[in-house]
Amino acid sequence: TDLELTGHAHYMYKEILEQPERAAAVIRGRLDARFATARLNGLNLSPRELRAFRRVKFLGCGSAYYVGQIGAQLIEDLARIPADAEPASEFRYRNPIIEPDTLYVVVSQSGETADTAFAVQEIKRKGGTVIGAVNVVGSTIAREVDGGIYLHAGPEIAVASTKALTNMAMAFGMFALHLGRLHDLSYADGERISNALKAIPEQIQEILDSEPAIAAIAQRVAKAENAFFIGRVRQYPVAREGAQKLKEISYVHAEAYPTSELKHGPLALIDPAMLTVAVVPDDELASRNIAAVEQVRARGGEVVAITHEAVEFGTMAIERIVVPKTEPELDPILLIIPTQLLAYHAALVLGHDVDKPRNLAKSVTVE
Ligand code: AGP
Repeated sequence: TDLELTGHAHYMYKEILEQPERAAAVIRGRLDARFATARLNGLNLSPRELRAFRRVKFLGCGSAYYVGQIGAQLIEDLARIPADAEPASEFRYRNPIIEPDTLYVVVSQSGETADTAFAVQEIKRKGGTVIGAVNVVGSTIAREVDGGIYLHAGPEIAVASTKALTNMAMAFGMFALHLGRLHDLSYADGERISNALKAIPEQIQEILDSEPAIAAIAQRVAKAENAFFIGRVRQYPVAREGAQKLKEISYVHAEAYPTSELKHGPLALIDPAMLTVAVVPDDELASRNIAAVEQVRARGGEVVAITHEAVEFGTMAIERIVVPKTEPELDPILLIIPTQLLAYHAALVLGHDVDKPRNLAKSVTVE
């Protein structure tokens, strides 16, 4: 059953491998080819109600917050509605202004995270509309929201979240497609996104098939005392999530920065002992990202690039992890996958308890 290790050494590893199948499950029956949109019946919001929102705000904790950032970018890209993400843990304590024309989206694998559940209550108490992107059916948050999207990732046991995060991002791809098609996203662009979403499960499998190469690079990551994860715009949340995963299970000190911010401070820390994991997709910002990698190399810093085949680093001595290309809006979903395997293999090399990292709980149900 889903709760058994089925021969794998760790739940985290089993859950990483399940992603192609689970990512297929979250889109199953939800993509509407005829109208090039997504059908999300659980939202409980009519097209007219959905169209009336002038802002979307994602709330979640930890990795769920980072994927909320991916969701916000997808909404801005596809629906052109202002969107952002905030840690639910901060939101609940700052007397937030709840606006009737903002749609709140809470993000939680467990549906039991206390800070996120409190944010839901705060929004509802002030008359706001809140929907959920939740994995555990019937959980506290799932019961309290006005509607939502179930993630269908199956039970996730490992403290370090993997497949649930992937399905959150898939769900936001569909949600942004749906919202986009209610606004100005063309039929052709709707088809472009819909077809790309359909291809993602197989593309995840391709990345998983390159595990030996990623595991070899993880040997180097395990030796680092400090690491930067850098990514620009759509890829900044990828960097944040990559750094988070490494911290959680390998205890290697890792920090994420927007690539563009490097020269505004952190560059001072680059030396041969600092490892930089750079997310460099083949998109309109590639040349700027390559220039940043050059700056790191010029200061003797080692670089692992998570990138696409077409990106050329010239003669720079770096390690490359190549992932398949999807549509630019969806690239983060695939670029995150290697960071899971990097963290997993680094933790194995260091001999840590992958499924039960020190000091952490699977869901934080207390303050
Ligand atoms: C992820 O690897 C972390 N363990 C953690 O940040 C987690 O995503 C966060 O605590 C939120 O949990 P939830 O999705 O169950 O609400």
